[in-house]
Amino acid sequence: MNEKFPKGFLLGTATSACQTETTRNTNWYGLRTRDGITVDRNIEHDLHRLEDTEIIALLGNAYRFNPDWAKLQNKPFGQLGTTQVENYRSFMGALKDKGLHLMFVLHHFANPNWFEKVGGWESNESPDIFADYSEKMAREFGDLTSSWNTINEPMTHAVNGYFFGFFPPCRKNPIAAIRVLKSQRKAHRLAYDSIKERLPNQMVGVSNATMDFRSESCLGQISAGIARKIYLEIIPDMFLPADFIGISYYGCVPFNPLPVTEIENPRKLDKMGRAHDKMWEYYPCGLEKVINHFHGRYNKPIIITENGCCTDDDEFRIRSIKEHLDAVRSSIKRGADVRGYFHWSTFDNVELHLGPSWRFGLVHINYETMKRTIKPSGIYYSKLVKSLRGN
Ligand code: BGC
Repeated sequence: MNEKFPKGFLLGTATSACQTETTRNTNWYGLRTRDGITVDRNIEHDLHRLEDTEIIALLGNAYRFNPDWAKLQNKPFGQLGTTQVENYRSFMGALKDKGLHLMFVLHHFANPNWFEKVGGWESNESPDIFADYSEKMAREFGDLTSSWNTINEPMTHAVNGYFFGFFPPCRKNPIAAIRVLKSQRKAHRLAYDSIKERLPNQMVGVSNATMDFRSESCLGQISAGIARKIYLEIIPDMFLPADFIGISYYGCVPFNPLPVTEIENPRKLDKMGRAHDKMWEYYPCGLEKVINHFHGRYNKPIIITENGCCTDDDEFRIRSIKEHLDAVRSSIKRGADVRGYFHWSTFDNVELHLGPSWRFGLVHINYETMKRTIKPSGIYYSKLVKSLRGN
């Protein structure tokens, strides 16, 4: 296995603060999920740092994570809080001592409540507020980070937060969604420049939400074509410059002519004879297609910032890891410069507006006791990581 990945290949896991840390001061706090629970404790990652550090190090030579902006800064252009900076620094220092590459994600769907109060991403001031935060983060943490992801999946954030109203601030206004994308584009560019000025040797980019958008009918050709154009061309072009192209890939969305997912159309994929997890059609070959597309379009290093599956069937998860890593290896053989793969997710966590029963983790969480138990897929993944370490 080890000789099949290039030297220095990053293999790790990924998490986000709004799905793992206790949350009080973000716009996710108090959101009622489809499962019926209210977002509050998540998996108490910030209260289990020591234990979680060991687990994270077992599951990767790299870790992609997102500190909680609301914990670090309490007003626009404010200084970062010393205690919280120290907390994150000691957590990151412990991972760095274990040899991990740390990819920092500055924005992963959550906004501090104070940021919402001053207009959030719809305000003209938001790019400057975010750029100031990025500059301070680079100053405080740059000696511990290895790479940066300014914004996680801008399109998922805009569509779910401002068009469908699933994510906070739960708006349903297409004009607002476009305004938010424009603000985030500007915010990314400003943040890119300020991070690069301080840390010229660290790669900076965004993660792009991707799927294999497949047409199933004549009309489906039009809708799938539009989705492809927006997700795989317009949005990634908007979020340049970038030193790497981040790809988050979860499967295939058939269009007939509307998109078919297991989340919104339960059992329909079964009727179509398609394998699926609890959310989307299972289609590992699509990852190779997406990598090849981005390699051809940008000819830049590529990092798989997220890939995983939502299931209680851990055998399925192991198969999914194997087959998606095969897709990565095959695209490397064809010439794509893929530098790393982050599995989503380290732990079961609260799946955004859906809730805790939608499990993605290599580590099982008992939500009553918060006990962490490594699943067979986690053991499988840790063996892959070990074989890579000997590389
Ligand atoms: C998001 C994660 C989410 C995952 C599964 C990604 O788009 O970045 O926060 O948990 O998809 O839905």
